[in-house]
Amino acid sequence: MCGIVGYVGSKDCSDVLVNALSKLEYRGYDSAGIAVFENGDIKTVKTQGKLKDLEDKLAAEYKPQGHIGIGHTRWATHGEPSDVNSHPHSGARVTIVHNGIIENYLELKEFLTARGRSFLSETDTEVVAQLLDYEYNGNPLETIQKVMQQLKGSFALGIMFRDFTDRIFATRRESPLIVGVAENECFIASDVPAILRYTRDYYLLEHDEIATLTTEGVSFVDKHLRPITKELKTADWDMEAAEKGGYAHFMIKEINEQPEAIRTTIMPRIRDGLPCLEECGITVESLKRFRSITIVACGTAMHAGMVGKYVIEDLARVPVVVDIASEFRYRNPIVGKDDLVVIISQSGETADSLAALRLAKQKGATTLAIVNAKGSSIAREADMLIYTLAGPEIAVASTKAYITQLSVMYLFAFELALAKGTVSAAECKRLIAALIKMPDAVAHVIENCEEKCKFIATKLVNADSLLYIGRGLDYALSMEGSLKLKEVSYIHSESYAAGELKHGTISLIEEGMPVISVATQTDVIPKTISNIVEVKSRGAKIILVCTDACARGLKDGVADYVVEIPHSEELLMPITAVVPLQILAYYTAINRGNDPDKPRNLAKSVTVE
Ligand code: AGP
Repeated sequence: MCGIVGYVGSKDCSDVLVNALSKLEYRGYDSAGIAVFENGDIKTVKTQGKLKDLEDKLAAEYKPQGHIGIGHTRWATHGEPSDVNSHPHSGARVTIVHNGIIENYLELKEFLTARGRSFLSETDTEVVAQLLDYEYNGNPLETIQKVMQQLKGSFALGIMFRDFTDRIFATRRESPLIVGVAENECFIASDVPAILRYTRDYYLLEHDEIATLTTEGVSFVDKHLRPITKELKTADWDMEAAEKGGYAHFMIKEINEQPEAIRTTIMPRIRDGLPCLEECGITVESLKRFRSITIVACGTAMHAGMVGKYVIEDLARVPVVVDIASEFRYRNPIVGKDDLVVIISQSGETADSLAALRLAKQKGATTLAIVNAKGSSIAREADMLIYTLAGPEIAVASTKAYITQLSVMYLFAFELALAKGTVSAAECKRLIAALIKMPDAVAHVIENCEEKCKFIATKLVNADSLLYIGRGLDYALSMEGSLKLKEVSYIHSESYAAGELKHGTISLIEEGMPVISVATQTDVIPKTISNIVEVKSRGAKIILVCTDACARGLKDGVADYVVEIPHSEELLMPITAVVPLQILAYYTAINRGNDPDKPRNLAKSVTVE
């Protein structure tokens, strides 16, 4: 779960590598480093800390001068964040950067130690560097091939051989890697935004392929070292989209991008007022046969699946199970040829979600991926694919990816309900018409609730713990609200089905404890209000996120603070109601002095178990 980059060209390599790494810090940011060929030697500079610390070190101590090199930003797996555990790592004639985990590194380390090799760091990566050096026979491609045959686990590698100062090599298995090309220069990177400043043209490296990058261009071989040609892709994300665009943080920028992200995601999938997912491989006919649906994902993506469950079951009357990917993959799940397994993932590279997808396929289920990152592993391996068109999401806390995942869930539920005959075309058109209004509704909520949420966030700043409560769709949404707050503010919080509180959790309520309640579903609002009164009378401070209609019906004093959002089609309310929860989390993090874009201990793309 790190970011790797590489450059071959005529520019100042150190500058290019640092710039490219700055677009990958979302993948990890506990240390960073670069290695550059300088006068026939490999010069390495690395440090614990963020990329800024590496930049400071390069400016203060020494900046390698050269035009070919590799770089790394780390999220520690083996060995604590420290200078010595930072990448690049070297053997005598080889220097590498690595993203992933080498599962058999201890075995390989023993093998190398028995042959007189010693190690400076605790990392699995140094073992690979030493193994490359041990196996080196003067031919880099043969050496890489031989080492790859011995590696178990996941890796994307950027490799420099001291004897070949005009080139770098790259390979991968499981972990993502792209190869960018421009005139007389080329790049490797874990993700497309890293190269957008220089080029939009890139190749996707497949498992076990090896790329050789020189100023003459890039060549590829397969695992048998047979030359291969690959399709050149062009990124449709631009630089500006990958930058902050005037906002203080990516998180608030991405919250503000949500109306556009929903619009971009839904509009191409609507034809004649009805959902149309044919280009994603989904037709009304193909949906008829599914007996049940299992939605598998992690974190925020799983919460989008929870909303999907309520909506699909309500409209299409098909049973839906929502499962956490890390649980699904190890519990022999009951899915087979009559079932659809939906995998939701922003990155498309989440290790557990990818494993869940493979397991579902192995069991004969049909798989549908709902993914944001184009060409990612999950996108490529699923039977059917709907892209969320949110554009690059840089902040670790997912916002616009979540809202587009919801939007796709609605489109899919409408299509499924049509297929099952549980909703008429006329009713479906009515729902689609309501969905089309959601981008404007979200823009309205952002504009009207930001100041209120900012103010309420000042009341949360000293909280030790809080609860999110709701019923039905409001409960599904509360899960996401709670995760958002805890991940960026570091305040403990739980989400609870409001009706479940008195079965134990209400004992936590004490004087002044904030309880955030979501109330947008008319049929359960009176019940939720009763639950609010119960916790209020035990000292809780109530923050109520509700529709304007609900707010009008409230008696004075029920809530301490109310955030009103306009009432719209009730089934779609999570799309607007999530916005105040996101903004509340953002400002609470700011008030506590946290960097909301890079919360501690987290990484954007969780490519390890
Ligand atoms: C939430 O803000 C987090 N970024 C996290 O829960 C995330 O949704 C989860 O790790 C799944 O990631 P994915 O969508 O890339 O698979």
